[in-house]
Amino acid sequence: MNPARLAIFISGSGSNAEKIIAHFQNHESIKVALLLSNHAEAYGLQRAARYHIPTLVFNKTQFRESDEIVSVLKAAGVTHLVLAGFLWLIPQNLIEAFPHRIINIHPALLPKFGGRGMYGMRVHEAVKAAGETETGITIHEVNAHYDEGKILFQQKCRVENSDTPGQIAQKVQQLEHRHYPATIERWVATFS
Ligand code: GRF
Repeated sequence: MNPARLAIFISGSGSNAEKIIAHFQNHESIKVALLLSNHAEAYGLQRAARYHIPTLVFNKTQFRESDEIVSVLKAAGVTHLVLAGFLWLIPQNLIEAFPHRIINIHPALLPKFGGRGMYGMRVHEAVKAAGETETGITIHEVNAHYDEGKILFQQKCRVENSDTPGQIAQKVQQLEHRHYPATIERWVATFS
């Protein structure tokens, strides 16, 4: 079997992307082929470069109004797309080119605290404001709507009364780093 080839999409820090890259560094059947960002200043680009992963920065026109990104991905032999802190909605041409082969991580227990505008600290501030006693992570398939694809994995953590949004963010990030690479590995295995 040919190895699966992942493309990771980021918009910012890329700490999850780095965990994924490190996890698959010497993997027999899964390779990270490419890391793409819609921001030239995204720190994740530097993280990828340290691991010698090719990177690509693209703009909205290339992404939404052409088939350029689909062509780049196909030319690189990409088989699965991994969103890790990527903030743009995925256009229909990409969804059709990679049916059921796009995965995302969300820093809360969907369907709560998801949808347009729910990203980063806003999620943890909303969890705190709602007085939730637990939060967590959701890993899900991507469709044409924010945070609505089939849920593949969830993991919870407690929210204490005294937790600040920043402390909640830290707990959730630990869960993300621990579970996203392994969940991707299991997900990719379901296609073979
Ligand atoms: C994570 O919280 C992820 O759940 C969300 O965006 C954040 C990305 O963080 N989709 P990082 O860029 O991987 O550090």
